[in-house]
Amino acid sequence: MSTYNRTNPYNARIKERYLLTSPSSTKQTYHVTLDLPAQDLPFAVGDSVAILPQNDPHTVERILNTLHFSGEEPISDPKTKSTLPLRSFLLTKANLSKAHSRFLSLLSECGAPIHPLLEDKERLNLALLSHNILDFLRLHEPTRLSPQKLADSLLPLMPRFYSIASSSKVFPNEIHLTVSFLSYVQQGETRHGVASYFLCRGADLESTSIPLYIQPSNGFCLPSPDDSIILIGPGTGVAPFRAFLQERLADQAKGRNWLFFGERHRAHDFYYEPFFTELVKQNFLRLDTAFSRDQAEKIYVQHKLQEHGASLWDWLQSGAFLYVCGDAEKMAKDVDSALEHIAVKYGDLSSEDARLYLKRLRKEKRYLLDVY
Ligand SMILES: Cc1cc2nc3c(=O)[nH]c(=O)nc-3n(C[C@H](O)[C@H](O)[C@H](O)COP(=O)(O)OP(=O)(O)OC[C@H]3O[C@@H](n4cnc5c(N)ncnc54)[C@H](O)[C@@H]3O)c2cc1C
Ligand SMILES: NC(=O)c1ccc[n+]([C@@H]2O[C@H](COP(=O)([O-])OP(=O)(O)OC[C@H]3O[C@@H](n4cnc5c(N)ncnc54)[C@H](OP(=O)(O)O)[C@@H]3O)[C@@H](O)[C@H]2O)c1
Repeated sequence: MSTYNRTNPYNARIKERYLLTSPSSTKQTYHVTLDLPAQDLPFAVGDSVAILPQNDPHTVERILNTLHFSGEEPISDPKTKSTLPLRSFLLTKANLSKAHSRFLSLLSECGAPIHPLLEDKERLNLALLSHNILDFLRLHEPTRLSPQKLADSLLPLMPRFYSIASSSKVFPNEIHLTVSFLSYVQQGETRHGVASYFLCRGADLESTSIPLYIQPSNGFCLPSPDDSIILIGPGTGVAPFRAFLQERLADQAKGRNWLFFGERHRAHDFYYEPFFTELVKQNFLRLDTAFSRDQAEKIYVQHKLQEHGASLWDWLQSGAFLYVCGDAEKMAKDVDSALEHIAVKYGDLSSEDARLYLKRLRKEKRYLLDVY
C-alpha cells in the first residue's frame, strides 16, 4: 500500500514522451513515461495514477496582469491555511477553467457592474459553462478585488486520473500513460484541458515535478492466468489493456486474450500497433479493430462485437472475463446494448433474460468497467 496520497503526493518526472498518433492525425494522443521506482509506488495493472496538474503559466500571468497583481502577494490557502504566493496558488491550487456563482457575486461586491449576461439564472448558468475565470475578470474589471478574496472565491483544482498502461513486471521503474490531448474552442480562442496540457506539452522532460499518487482500481484487475479475457478499449480505453497484456506475457498466462480496439483512422491512430500485432503473430492475442472514419459509415467496437458475436458468446460460455474501458457517455452504453443483442441472438435469451445475464456477469465480477 502506497503512503502517497493527495496531500502527500510523490514527485515523479517525465522520462519520455511521444505522439502515438501520426502528425497528420485529426487528434493528438501521447505516450508518457514517468520515471519512478516501483518499490516507492507499488501498483497493480488496472490501477490509475492521480495527477495533481499545474495550470498553464500563461493563463496565470494573464490573470495577474488583468488584476494588476505581481503574483508575489502572500495569501492563505483556504483549504490548508498555509501561506504561499498568489502565483503559486493560481498555478497549483485553483480551478481557472470554471467559475462558481460565488465568484461572480464577489466580483459585483468588488465594484464591478453586473454584466447583462449574468442578470437571470438561465443566462448565468450558460455563462458559467462557456467562460473561464479570465473571461469573467475581463467582463467585470473589478476594482476592489484583493488577492486573498480572489483565492477564497476560486474552486479547487482537482486531480485527474490516467489508467496505467504498463506492468511493473516488465517496467519496474516506470509508469506509462496514454494521454489524449484535449483542446476546444471557447470564446473564440483555442483552449486546452489542464492536465492533458500539463502532461503532453507544459511539463519539461526530466525536470518538471509531476505530483501524483496511485488510485487503486475498484476490482478492475486480471483474473487467474488460466482464465480467458475479452478487452474492449477504444481510444485511450486501450491503456490498461496494454498493461494487462504485458503482465499476462510476463506471467506466461495460458488463458486466451482478445482485444477490441477502435480509433478514427488505421493509418494515423492505431496506438501501440507494433506491440499488438506482434502479440497476434505470436498467437498470444486475437485482435479486432474498428477504425471509425476509414469509410463512409461509422464502424465502432460494438459493430465488431456483433460481427464476432457467435465466437464471443462461446468465450463467455466457457468463462471468459469481459472488460470495457474508455468513454462512459456513449461507448460503454452502446457496448452494453451490443452484448445484450449477442446474448439474445446466440444465447437464445429474451431481452429481459439477456439483461439478467449481463447483470449476473457483473455481480460475478466477470464483466468489469473502467469508464470515464
Ligand atoms: C479512472 C479514469 C481513468 C482515466 N484514464 C485516462 C487515460 O488513460 N487517458 C486519458 O487521456 N484520459 C483518461 N481519463 C480522463 C482524464 O482523467 C481527464 O479527464 C482528461 O485527460 C481531461 O482532463 P484535462 O485536465 O486535460 O481537461 P479539463 O481541464 O478537465 O477539461 C475538461 C473540461 O473541458 C471542458 N470542455 C471540453 N470540451 C469542451 C468544449 N468543446 N467546449 C467547452 N468546454 C469544453 C469541459 O468542461 C470538460 O469537463 C481517465 C479518467 C478516469 C476517471
Ligand atoms: N463528451 C464528449 O463529447 C466526448 C467526445 C470525445 C471524447 N470524449 C472523452 O475524451 C476522452 C478521450 O477520448 P479518446 O481520445 O480516448 O477517444 P474517443 O473520443 O472516445 O474515440 C475513440 C474511438 O471511439 C469512437 N466512438 C465514438 N463514439 C462511439 C460510440 N458510441 N461507441 C463506440 N465507439 C465510439 C470514436 O469514433 P468517432 O470519433 O469517429 O465517432 C473513435 O474511433 C474520453 O474521456 C472521452 O470520454 C468526450
